[in-house]
Amino acid sequence: MKARRTIASLAGMLIYVSMAAQTNVLTIDAGKKGIPIQDTMFGLFYEDINFAADGGLYAELIKNRSFEFNDPLAGWDIIGNVKVMGDGPFSNNPHYVRLGYPGHPSMLTAICNEGFFGIGVEAGHEYRISFWARNSGTRPAEQVSVHLCLPSTMGEDQSFCQNVVTVESPEWKRYEAVLKSPITAAKAEFRAVLVREHKANTPGQSVDMEHISLFPVETFNGDENGLRTDIAEAIKALEPGVFRFPGGCIVEGTNLETRYQWKNSVGPVENRPINKTRWSYTFPHRMFPDYYQSYGLGFYEYFRFAEEIGAEPLPVVSCGIACQFENEPHWHSDASIDELQPFVDDALDLIEFANGPVDSEWGRVRAEMGHPEPFNLKYIGIGNEQWGEGYPQRLEVFVKAIRAKHPEIGIIGSSGPYKDGEDFDYLWKEMRRLGVDLVDEHYYANEEFFINNAARYDTYPRTGPKVFAGEYACHGVDGRKWNHFNASLLEAAFMTGLERNADIVHMASYAPLLAHVEGWQWRPDMIWFDNLDVMLSCSYHVQKMYSTNCGTHSLSIVMDGENVTGQRGLYASAVRDEQKREYIIKVANLAEESQEISLQFKGLSRKETLDCPVTCTVLHSDDPYAENTLENPNAIVPVTSVIEPSSWYKNTFTSTIGPRTFAVYTISY
Ligand code: AHR
Repeated sequence: MKARRTIASLAGMLIYVSMAAQTNVLTIDAGKKGIPIQDTMFGLFYEDINFAADGGLYAELIKNRSFEFNDPLAGWDIIGNVKVMGDGPFSNNPHYVRLGYPGHPSMLTAICNEGFFGIGVEAGHEYRISFWARNSGTRPAEQVSVHLCLPSTMGEDQSFCQNVVTVESPEWKRYEAVLKSPITAAKAEFRAVLVREHKANTPGQSVDMEHISLFPVETFNGDENGLRTDIAEAIKALEPGVFRFPGGCIVEGTNLETRYQWKNSVGPVENRPINKTRWSYTFPHRMFPDYYQSYGLGFYEYFRFAEEIGAEPLPVVSCGIACQFENEPHWHSDASIDELQPFVDDALDLIEFANGPVDSEWGRVRAEMGHPEPFNLKYIGIGNEQWGEGYPQRLEVFVKAIRAKHPEIGIIGSSGPYKDGEDFDYLWKEMRRLGVDLVDEHYYANEEFFINNAARYDTYPRTGPKVFAGEYACHGVDGRKWNHFNASLLEAAFMTGLERNADIVHMASYAPLLAHVEGWQWRPDMIWFDNLDVMLSCSYHVQKMYSTNCGTHSLSIVMDGENVTGQRGLYASAVRDEQKREYIIKVANLAEESQEISLQFKGLSRKETLDCPVTCTVLHSDDPYAENTLENPNAIVPVTSVIEPSSWYKNTFTSTIGPRTFAVYTISY
């Protein structure tokens, strides 16, 4: 009996009928070498949105550590005599606080920091407090006690660990102390108190404090100025091939002044000027007045992390056009072609920062930061979601300059914010004319799009720029815009088309990557976290099932002679991994019913027989709109089983795939 195709698409769920007891034969052409899959194929789109950096991946626990927010005391509470001063030792961050004599020997001067939605600490872990300080010189030394506190405790003492730092000099110096937490708390507070046990509290007494920083002693890879271990490990586990940074809209800025300027993000952290991120106000219904970029996780830390996790870095820089998507045309503050040189220089200097010799201007900065070896940068993106004639006009200037100086660097252009249409077609034509290496496509789209676009790239021209599917995620309609299982299943189905078209799709990254549960502006997102824990969304699991099983060559897999792009609710792709000596078949079953599938391998040499156990990893949820949460992070996770060889018959493996299931079959050869 022939099964009928989709008869209805209801609220993003496919309803199939008449599929009783049909075996779907999926034929894999194992006789051909297949299409090489790029090492960059599945990667990361990182943007500092949703408190991804400060309060997230960047392990700093103090908010507004340099007193440079619009309100210099934002994030801080004060008691006693605290003054904000403006002539500090770091020219880009001139503010600091002066903790002075409180006016009476029994009064107290102290500052308290609330952290990012509180300060998360774990029992038995150590935290390094550091700050720059000087005393007023009226006495040989002053003391500051530093504390981790639980203001809400019912216990006798709010402070649960403390240390004392002696500020021994009237010159600015860096001081540090370690605090070992005996408890786990998601919402602790940091306090620095001018010690009053000194009987000689005097009116002249004061301590100036600047760049007050609190880091877990243990950071990812033990890096100084490093990353939160649990989030970084979750990213590493994706084995990403490519790592785009720093966005997103923040590359462009609301205006050019607020664009991401990478030069502000390198060098000593104390002197990196902060930036007000657009994500503090872009959505007035999710406003975060205290959301700034400290640039503590800057370009050096980015390149270092990319290297540590084995991903090709892909930095994106401003093309001289501020964000078009959120701005009316008349609000634009674009750089004219005549004004573009500093922007082009930024791109060239960034390449030098990454790859230049240690005696070059920017190579020296990298070396001084601790990495004399080049980072081996191979790609750069110019502009984010730009469109209209102004973009290719400006991009052309960049392309000429980069090609002339760095012909070895691949250039990524943009097809704008739209997944298709006039602007999209125009930009693709222009990208071909300019000869960029890859074109960045974005599609935050509904269920229908993901169901219907598994064949999107089957008909793309095979010459010219390659595709970087640089931002995509299934955004459910009718308010279903969260990380539910159904969205991830449709993404899995769609991604079979990326893999099948590995000759032109060279990079792909789900977006955005990170979100703090108390600080998000945009969802769905791949990895969620609070101050203590990480939650991996269903979409994370799908991405990982692809990226850790991406193989070296894409093979043809067909059903009834056609690519498997939704017939009977099935989507499939096949790869061979020449290093691991595996065939890896991915099948998404969007139907409401189980289906029998036969994976039939054609073209094997006469000596070759496939009859080994098959490892099958499935992602499934009975409730399509269920999701993982921080309270229940493992509600929906991949489950792996081994299917014994009896399921093989003449190089054909037959099994059942459950309803609404994404499955990855691994077959050793
Ligand atoms: O990922 C969130 C935003 O979506 C990015 O900043 C932008 O590129 C896109 O519009």
